[in-house]
Amino acid sequence: MAKILLTGATGYIGSHTAVELIQNGHEVLIIDNLSNSKIQALDGIKRITGIRPEFEQIDLRYKDQILDLLSRHKDIEGVIHFAAFKFVSESIQQPLKYYENNLFSSINLLSALSNYNKPISFVFSSSCTVYGIPDRLPVVEDMPMGEPTSPYGKTKMLSEYVIMDTVSQFPHIKAISLRYFNPIGAHPSLEIGESPLKTFNLVPILTEVAIGKRKEILVFGNDYPTPDGTPVRDYIYIQDLARAHVIAYERLKNKKNKKDYEYFNIGLGRGYSVLEVIKTFEKVSGRKINYRIVDRRPGDIAAIYADTKLANNELEWKPEHELEFMLKTAWEWEINKKF
Ligand code: NAD
Ligand code: WQD
Repeated sequence: MAKILLTGATGYIGSHTAVELIQNGHEVLIIDNLSNSKIQALDGIKRITGIRPEFEQIDLRYKDQILDLLSRHKDIEGVIHFAAFKFVSESIQQPLKYYENNLFSSINLLSALSNYNKPISFVFSSSCTVYGIPDRLPVVEDMPMGEPTSPYGKTKMLSEYVIMDTVSQFPHIKAISLRYFNPIGAHPSLEIGESPLKTFNLVPILTEVAIGKRKEILVFGNDYPTPDGTPVRDYIYIQDLARAHVIAYERLKNKKNKKDYEYFNIGLGRGYSVLEVIKTFEKVSGRKINYRIVDRRPGDIAAIYADTKLANNELEWKPEHELEFMLKTAWEWEINKKF
């Protein structure tokens, strides 16, 4: 059977996608350097699917490692490229770390695949940050990529260009970028969830405050031009996002794509402010959240949320879960965390 190579898939989004792929009859091979994830994610995948995916510890910054892997696996037909560093704020402080990891990884992977002698369906983890500071909302795919407000966002935009240009010269590679908004929540089985080695994201910090691992959450600014002054984001349930990858991969594999390179917004299609998220979390968890308003965080923008019509129509993908459910699973995962 053909294999799908998942890079960075002991991580949050990759592990949930691995489950959806396996449950849809696909075989996956996971590679990760474990810089922000734990090997126990594989046990969680096994507990849900009955299958422990094949795994190799590989660092994509080193091209020889990926060349060696591809020389040993001749049956790869798909690649879903999750591996990257992902924090907007950290990337401002450590730009070279982000450019090096995220760009070298994408370039090394595509360069190795450009010599692979099988058709490749390539799906890339892009981000809403590629739109920069949007001049209208919701953001639509036909709006140009803007100027991302952080090195992280720029690595996603540049990776999209690298993919676009590679695809145009190497006809055996067809690609889709999924521009995720803010994925949250855990698998409903609670066998896997968000379990990073470090985080700066809103929801995992919130759950840690609620359970007492942190004493408070800092809310970065309440003077934005939004209804309550705190930034507005589009939160998407992790399993809905994972499902979009299966659809994107199968679209390419079954030659249903309309162009060699396509890109889609994957979000809920509506925005919530930070304070709305905190209030909803308090409601579903029954815990009071200790928060403190502080200065704005560098790199943050006031508001962004997705127009998802293209994904709805072309991919026949629709999100199925609302904010309350997403936050409930995030909270239940925090209470029942297995790794
Ligand atoms: P994550 O940190 O949980 O997973 C990323 C994985 O990549 C980690 O397991 C990490 O160890 C691995 N990795 C990093 N550099 C690597 C390298 N050089 N070689 C091999 N493995 C490496 O993050 P996630 O939330 O699952 O994000 C997955 C992808 O989605 C990333 O590309 C991220 O930028 C993108 N994305 C995430 C979000 C989000 O909010 N979580 C939103 C938009 C886009
Ligand atoms: C959400 C909101 C913070 C932490 C970026 C990308 C997105 C995705 C996630 C990758 C913001 C506020 C947060 C805290 C807070 N990733 N916040 N206190 O930065 O919106 O999204 O990363 O591509 O695509 O755009 O995500 O979860 O860090 O923040 O007040 O301790 O919560 O200011 O408004 P972000 P986040």
